[in-house]
Amino acid sequence: MNPSIKTHGFKIINSNEINELNNLKRYITNFLSNKFKLNNKDPDDVLNNIHNYANLITDRQANDLVLETLKELSDKFDFSEIVYQSFGEEIRNLLGPDLHAQKNNNIVFQSPNSNRYSELHSDAPPNSEFELVVWVPLVNCYGTKSFFMVPLEDSFDLIKKYKSKNFSNWNEFKSKALEKANHFEINYSQALIFWTGMIHGSLENKTNESRWCLNVRYKNLFAPCGQHDPLTYYRIFRKSVVTDLALSKKW
Ligand SMILES: [Fe+2]
Repeated sequence: MNPSIKTHGFKIINSNEINELNNLKRYITNFLSNKFKLNNKDPDDVLNNIHNYANLITDRQANDLVLETLKELSDKFDFSEIVYQSFGEEIRNLLGPDLHAQKNNNIVFQSPNSNRYSELHSDAPPNSEFELVVWVPLVNCYGTKSFFMVPLEDSFDLIKKYKSKNFSNWNEFKSKALEKANHFEINYSQALIFWTGMIHGSLENKTNESRWCLNVRYKNLFAPCGQHDPLTYYRIFRKSVVTDLALSKKW
């Protein structure tokens, strides 16, 4: 299967440049290694096994660790820039040269057997229907450590039936959606890019490894913002030459 955004609403892509992402991964590893006094500084080992090294028992502890990590990274790394450097060719092809990007850095973390998995949903609304999500794993993801996506036509069909009350309860809707879902094997240096209208989610992570991924959203600068306040949610990320000219006119 080689899905495309046009036919499936999602696509797995390879990075066009990995240095900045490698730097970020190395920095997070060093931060965690120092914090928990680990001798081992292999990024894959530290990130995959952080639930053991940090003795994460509760979701609250995991959440606190992610927030602390984000705070450490906040004035040093810009995830929208890093993801754009790594996967920008495809983002430019799909959205054009005038871009809004999500303002804040975001890490989605899921340790084994945590209840903090992402229940079946679509992002739009409240997100803009003119938006793409770029989901970038920092470790190799497979099975329940990964993510699932219901292909475009099946997403349309299920949402239409859900709105027409064709399902008697949520579990019936969910099991029909999961029957249609594509579960991904996606490695570090790749990204899953998807349209915000798609049904997607993750399952309880039954593997013995933790999942770390970045989640960045882009839309065309001139496209509707959905229900988000554009000034707090997005920032102007890239402007084309013509947009610059238009904004700098002196008459
Ligand atoms: Fe989502």
